[in-house]
Amino acid sequence: MEDSYVFRYMREEDIDQVLEVEHASFTLPWSREAFYNELRNNKFAVYIVLEHNKKIIGYSGVWIVIDEAHVTNVAILPEYRGKKLGDALMQKLIQVSREMGARSMTLEVRVTNHVAQSLYRKMGFQNGGIRKNYYSDNQEDALVMWVNL
Ligand SMILES: CC(C)(COP(=O)(O)OP(=O)(O)OC[C@H]1O[C@@H](n2cnc3c(N)ncnc32)[C@H](O)[C@@H]1OP(=O)(O)O)[C@@H](O)C(=O)NCCC(=O)NCCS
Repeated sequence: MEDSYVFRYMREEDIDQVLEVEHASFTLPWSREAFYNELRNNKFAVYIVLEHNKKIIGYSGVWIVIDEAHVTNVAILPEYRGKKLGDALMQKLIQVSREMGARSMTLEVRVTNHVAQSLYRKMGFQNGGIRKNYYSDNQEDALVMWVNL
């Protein structure tokens, strides 16, 4: 079969597969209810999945409030990392955010997560402030990053 990579908006029936990406990617994974709530009740939220031959291998989300896009999560399944898919996913998220009126984008990232920081820097993100003790599992600080779109 020919390899196909497809981006599309996330739907409720995707939650099981997105949870697999989530658990493989984060020490504080979001729950099923959290995703359900985002899709059902959060009118600011936009979630995108990346499929490889119909299997979800990555996802990302953003809250677009007036002209600011706040990235909630970006993740690629471990076995698919290092193939420029995270890069493509971020570019897609930026494109969709722009189309929905965002003029800037911001996010928090663990201060020790140099891989993600490097990806964001490549997209033009700059360092903002530090949020102390942001992550409840190990009290790690968050680096705030932002970019004009
Ligand atoms: C961050 C993440 C989405 C990157 O996805 P990916 O598909 O592996 O990334 P790509 O192959 O597209 O690489 C994009 C850039 O990320 C950085 N990067 C990727 N892998 C890296 C590595 N092993 N070491 C250092 N930088 C790396 C580089 O800047 C790279 O650009 P380059 O290839 O031109 O050097 C992925 O590592 C992931 O899901 N991590 C766990 C979840 C996470 O930490 N999310 C971010 C939370 S804020």
